Amino acid sequence: MAKPVVLMVGAYPEWDMAPLEAAYDVRKLWLAADKEAFLAATTPQARAIATRGELGASAALIDRCPKLEIIACYGVGVDAIDLKRAKERGVRVTNTPDVLTEDVADFAFALILGHLRKVVAGDAHVRSGAWRSGNLPLGVSLSGKTLGVLGLGRIGRAIARRAQGFGVKLAYCDVAPAAGVDAAYCADPVSLARASDILVAAVSGGEATRGMVNAAVLDALGPSGLFVNVSRGSVVDEAALIDALARGRIGGAALDVFLNEPAIDPRLLAFDNVLLEPHQSSGTVETRKAMGKLVRDNLEAHFAGRPLVTPVV
Ligand code: 8YV
Repeated sequence: MAKPVVLMVGAYPEWDMAPLEAAYDVRKLWLAADKEAFLAATTPQARAIATRGELGASAALIDRCPKLEIIACYGVGVDAIDLKRAKERGVRVTNTPDVLTEDVADFAFALILGHLRKVVAGDAHVRSGAWRSGNLPLGVSLSGKTLGVLGLGRIGRAIARRAQGFGVKLAYCDVAPAAGVDAAYCADPVSLARASDILVAAVSGGEATRGMVNAAVLDALGPSGLFVNVSRGSVVDEAALIDALARGRIGGAALDVFLNEPAIDPRLLAFDNVLLEPHQSSGTVETRKAMGKLVRDNLEAHFAGRPLVTPVV
């Protein structure tokens, strides 16, 4: 029997490609010189779409695939997939939860410490020889500060678990207080920001959280506050963030996600109190291997008629 056609929206690591190509007729959109010609030839046959968190699958793409059965997302965030359209079409959707939680939480602390302790500037100070003429300006302590976690889902909880080890006080905001969490609950993002020295966005992306970190939240975080984002660029009003940075209304930002990745707003490059990272919170060999395996396990379960491992829809 012919292998099912899988339309891959973006690249996966090379170790995922051999097993995928052994099982499926893989068509690679990102390599196509003429995307329109590629889509015209591939979408009529595609039974699966393999995508990534930040790339998703639009309603238009779903609509172009009459034989589509499943969208497998390499990533936990499915905000870029049109779930409504997938549901209407009876198309299943899977993601890769849990396997990336610990690495994303670790990276939140890498961003926090990287910013407060000037890790990147310190490296440049040594390499450039500037050390010979003077010391790096002093950093800011993490211990004793209050860390505000916006969104106490799997990743938010993993960030919260690490907080104790770093000697930070913890506050959080979610739709309701969480049972068994030893931290101050704040009912809205503004009160969370007011209570926090460091505000970490760990909420899911999507319409419900779009622009949640707005000018009022940033003002409440204040001129010595640090804003950290490991969720989605859409959860922060990026224009308000740039304005707050330009006017010194917050102390700084450490960002792994942006509105227009990878072509981010160039104004962000101008701030030396902003740490910029290329959406790499889940980017370890171990986690990316586990994510790829979960994508394949879901596809395999689907085409074998077994229950999906990590279904979203
Ligand atoms: C990306 C992510 O999917 O899990 C998510 O939602 O955004 C990331 O893990 C990853 O960068 C792969 O593209």
